[in-house]
Amino acid sequence: MSFDRSIKIAPSILSADFANFGAECEAIEAEGADWVHVDVMDGHFVPNITFGPAMCAAIRPHIKGVMDVHLMISPVDPYIDAFAQAGADIITAHVEAGAHIHRTLQAIRGAGAKAGVALNPGTPADAVAELLDMVDLVCVMTVNPGFGGQKFIDMTRKVRRLRSMIADRPIHIEIDGGVDPTTAPLVAAAGADVLVAGSAVFRGGSVSDPAPYGANIRAIRNAAAG
Ligand code: DX5
Ligand code: ZN
Repeated sequence: MSFDRSIKIAPSILSADFANFGAECEAIEAEGADWVHVDVMDGHFVPNITFGPAMCAAIRPHIKGVMDVHLMISPVDPYIDAFAQAGADIITAHVEAGAHIHRTLQAIRGAGAKAGVALNPGTPADAVAELLDMVDLVCVMTVNPGFGGQKFIDMTRKVRRLRSMIADRPIHIEIDGGVDPTTAPLVAAAGADVLVAGSAVFRGGSVSDPAPYGANIRAIRNAAAG
């Protein structure tokens, strides 16, 4: 994984056909996805349950590019090695998920993955100020995590602040929640480079009719380019 700040579209397979994850990953990559975003939920940190490391290991051979694993779980630390061994390129943990995010991020890098830190909408940018020399990605949640298809919460001020805090460090700013062709330009202009999108990518398509995935990805990318 080399670092660049160009816009990357990361479809969230939370909006994919749960009976068909392997084929869905292949379809979105063939249709232009840059990264594949995997939303892990535990029914404790967030009010929904999705999938775990075994599912990540199962889809890994179906993903050529970056597998971006977003952990919405608490605790995090006991599961880091399992997600790294499942082939996650990036493992993102929430700053709100426990008392020791610094230790968690050390453990993620120690396990050989890139480290991401996520901020819920109610958490200020300053919460990551002491972590910027140990992360590869900051994820700004633009919904309260737990479900796809929610309304975008405007966090552009936070994104701008993070962009200036990050300065020239090689750290991605990822936006997660409610990203579509209307909201993508706002966050891209504020300094984000990775746009997660679930419903706005998968709507209208399927593994047997994947062309809408490509059209949806292009629409978000073009809108973000302004
Ligand atoms: C929310 C997840 C998001 C979500 C995005 O808890 O982290 O990745 O799937 O879905 P949309 O794009 O539908 O808001
Ligand atoms: Zn996510």
